[in-house]
Amino acid sequence: MGNSTVLMSSPEYFKVEYSINPWMIEGIKVDLELAKQQWENLKSTIENAGASVHVVPPHEQYPDLVFTANSGIVKDDKVLIANFKYEERQGEEDIYSKWFSENGYAVSRIPSEFKFEGRGDAFVLGEYLIGSYGMRSDKEALLYIADEFGLTPKIVELVDPKFYHLDTCFQQLPTDNRDAIFYPKAFKDESLSEFADLFNLIPVSEADANRLACNAVVINNTVIFPSEDIDTIQTVKDLGLTAVVANVSEFLKSGGACQCLVITLK
Ligand code: ARG
Repeated sequence: MGNSTVLMSSPEYFKVEYSINPWMIEGIKVDLELAKQQWENLKSTIENAGASVHVVPPHEQYPDLVFTANSGIVKDDKVLIANFKYEERQGEEDIYSKWFSENGYAVSRIPSEFKFEGRGDAFVLGEYLIGSYGMRSDKEALLYIADEFGLTPKIVELVDPKFYHLDTCFQQLPTDNRDAIFYPKAFKDESLSEFADLFNLIPVSEADANRLACNAVVINNTVIFPSEDIDTIQTVKDLGLTAVVANVSEFLKSGGACQCLVITLK
């Protein structure tokens, strides 16, 4: 068992009431009871994999607050809060800032003209900032963050609106080999050469990508996938990892799956 800690936000007000990505069909019905069950099941799956879960209280006005991955980027006790691209989510910035400062983090902002959507588009790997731009986050934001945190930027461009955040089309796996799954067509450089010296890159099929296979969340040695119907589950098992499923079909209606619902704090 590891000692990781993650942040989630409960789904009491989750719905799809606007459309800011191609998954979000305006007016689509979300089964809220099912969404709550799926979220609770994801939370206990994460706890069973050895992480403690903190929860940000939900807010009636912000249905996408449940996707805490987008709150910002955390390094040790420092956090740089997101600058959301779309107005519909910008009010979440204050809610996350408040939670992080009340919980002992040094909270800073990046210049407001640079859009940035947190773990959706970037994470820290040792001395590197791994990130993507082109859909929700700006390249300038990633360069600013790398500079603030003293990291070397390794950044790539996204080109498919359906895969609008890095975490929808790329996930690092917890192997010594630094295996990582990715969906080539989501990237301008389909071979992802910028990442080739850091990761052993394993492509996933279009069918798996469309089930948000790359939005699996990694907790210690466990990889939690959003649906049973994903071939990459076997690939991950063959690497010697534990692969489990927490079905989050209601959240896919908003374009998010397991990783989107979580941000790792430590
Ligand atoms: N409906 C949300 C949005 O479009 C989904 C966010 C998913 N988050 C993620 N980290 N990929 O912003």
